[in-house]
Amino acid sequence: MRVQVVIIGGGPSGLLLGQLLHRHGIEAVVLERKTRDYVLGRIRAGVLEQGFVRLMEEAGVADRLHREGIVHDGTLIAHDGGMFRVDFTEHTGVPVVVYGQTEVTRDLYDAREAAGAETIFEVEGVELCDLEGERPYVTFTAQGEARRIDCDFVAGCDGFHGVSRKTIPEDVRTEYEKVYPYGWLGVLSETPPVDDELIYANSARGFALCSMRNPGLSRYYIQCSLSDHPGDWSDDDFWTELKRRIPEEAADKLVTGPSIEKSIAPLRSFVTEPMRWGRLFLCGDAAHVVPPTGAKGLNTAASDVHYLYHALRQFYEEGDAEGIDLYSERALARVWKVERFSWWFSALMHRTADQSAFDLRMQRAELEFLADSKSAQAAMAINYVGLPY
Ligand code: FAD
Ligand code: DHB
Repeated sequence: MRVQVVIIGGGPSGLLLGQLLHRHGIEAVVLERKTRDYVLGRIRAGVLEQGFVRLMEEAGVADRLHREGIVHDGTLIAHDGGMFRVDFTEHTGVPVVVYGQTEVTRDLYDAREAAGAETIFEVEGVELCDLEGERPYVTFTAQGEARRIDCDFVAGCDGFHGVSRKTIPEDVRTEYEKVYPYGWLGVLSETPPVDDELIYANSARGFALCSMRNPGLSRYYIQCSLSDHPGDWSDDDFWTELKRRIPEEAADKLVTGPSIEKSIAPLRSFVTEPMRWGRLFLCGDAAHVVPPTGAKGLNTAASDVHYLYHALRQFYEEGDAEGIDLYSERALARVWKVERFSWWFSALMHRTADQSAFDLRMQRAELEFLADSKSAQAAMAINYVGLPY
């Protein structure tokens, strides 16, 4: 079998890239290690930048997103018993949209199936070969059968634990990493959100986030220990702890109920350079990871997809390799700025055992500065709604 592009990974970045290429007549096959239901069962991101929404429109899959997505013009930040608001549209002219990663992925799978584009699920033993030559190929096993697909390019959209990044020789790759000494315990519950907007809370007991998916579905997170397991936390324990970490006015109106999903995510900042090696391009979590504070993971995967999809169009439609040659540089320039924002926002909102009294005063001073200064709020808003690409 031969196609123009083999996409490794059927998560949001692989599916979005596949759909955009398909709309422009560039043929791609997606190889996914898991089943479709498994991918859709992962509860992850929930806030989309305008750039992401635009790409979904370009891919022809934004109808449900426009119908069901909830537009947010600002966010609330709580600390020391009080709360202030950062207005996104006042400072940037654009809002963000609350629409779950699960729904994005479902829309993309549905569109892929409707277009008759091929996805091969439950692939094993994926190997990427001859990436430095003109004729790369990918080998794998599917339903017990050994297979080979020849192609022009490989897009490594297979997440942090995928095979693509590791295929790049170690002496070519430079990896930058910071692992945070805490995780996030997340709960999904069929209860109305506590507020119309998200609440990011810095409290003496640690960080908390009140988010949502739709008017009847809430998503809440609390900072937890890395040694915790979801089973250690009963629903009651979770709600009690959440209420202690958010302002009283929010805690009083919080509607609790049984959790329908409960999971723990570790927090990490990670970047690998370069994001291209020969005919392999890394995209999304395969190349970089951010701590979730500020909801940048999924959105940054989308900005990579933007650069890569335009580079491939330029190559196939104009015979020009400029975009391909500049892909890594362009994508990384934006990635590092997003890494900075996510690292800054994480440091501002979390508590750690090694913070000194001085560190805590610095955190409070920075929060008070953000509450008082329109310029600081503008800087936050510009990053939160998404840097341009
Ligand atoms: P992924 O979503 O990881 O998709 C990669 C796909 O590749 C997967 O389907 C995987 O099964 C497949 N794959 C892996 N290896 C292979 C292989 N060898 N062969 C074939 N297929 C393979 N971001 C936010 O903005 N907000 C959040 O709240 C948030 N929460 C998160 C919670 C968790 C637990 C995690 C892990 C991430 C979270 N993120 C969050 C980040 C966000 O979900 C990711 O940035 C986003 O999923 C990246 O999309 P991706 O397609 O690049 O990678
Ligand atoms: C969500 C996750 C985030 O990391 C964030 O900053 C905002 C919202 C969410 O899952 O809803």
